[in-house]
Amino acid sequence: MQSLENKILLEGQVLSDEILKVDSFLNHQVDPFLMREIGEEFARRFKDEAITKVLTIESSGIAPATMAALQLGVPLVFARKKKSLTMADQYYKAEVFSFTKRETTLIAVGKPFLNADDHVLIIDDFLANGQAAEGLIDVVQQAGAHVVGIGIVIEKAFQDGGTRLRQSGFRVESLARIASLQDGAISFVKKEKV
Ligand code: G4P
Repeated sequence: MQSLENKILLEGQVLSDEILKVDSFLNHQVDPFLMREIGEEFARRFKDEAITKVLTIESSGIAPATMAALQLGVPLVFARKKKSLTMADQYYKAEVFSFTKRETTLIAVGKPFLNADDHVLIIDDFLANGQAAEGLIDVVQQAGAHVVGIGIVIEKAFQDGGTRLRQSGFRVESLARIASLQDGAISFVKKEKV
């Protein structure tokens, strides 16, 4: 998605060879016009999949996922991050380990919000090692629902989450795919000619 790549080049800050800071439009301040475009693009890519729900994880997934849900005309559900769970049997839950933060988080979705007949589009802001996406897939499968695909705003293609998810058979659509952040320079995966 060209406007997203332009925004990343203009406003993204390379913090290290592995971390891209995009606080000005995605992770802290949110650019609603860009989010609307992102939602439209996800909806365009997944429009034939009879999606009934969009699922993301708090907090930065909520903005792009809401816009996608709006365009698809379905509810958005976001997994909550919990330290511990009271009334645990009322939630589908999974443990997500973050390589970036070196910590494990419990994510939880209330059982009334996912049903066995749901066709779920998972959306997240970043795809790095894929732990968050795998936790969300786990939650959907606990509900007996179907994962239609995974929509990612920014995939760091030099980390292995995208490869693993695709090899497991999931359709992963990333709107920007970063090939490298080495030496402070952002480069994107070259698009295949069709
Ligand atoms: P993974 O899910 O793909 O394995 O990623 P990882 O655990 O490594 O990422 C942990 C958190 O850091 C996630 O946000 C993820 O979105 C974010 N993240 C990973 N790589 C980058 C990066 O290069 N830049 C930025 N800006 N974020 C990155 P989170 O903890 O869930 O935070 P939030 O959603 O509350 O903002």
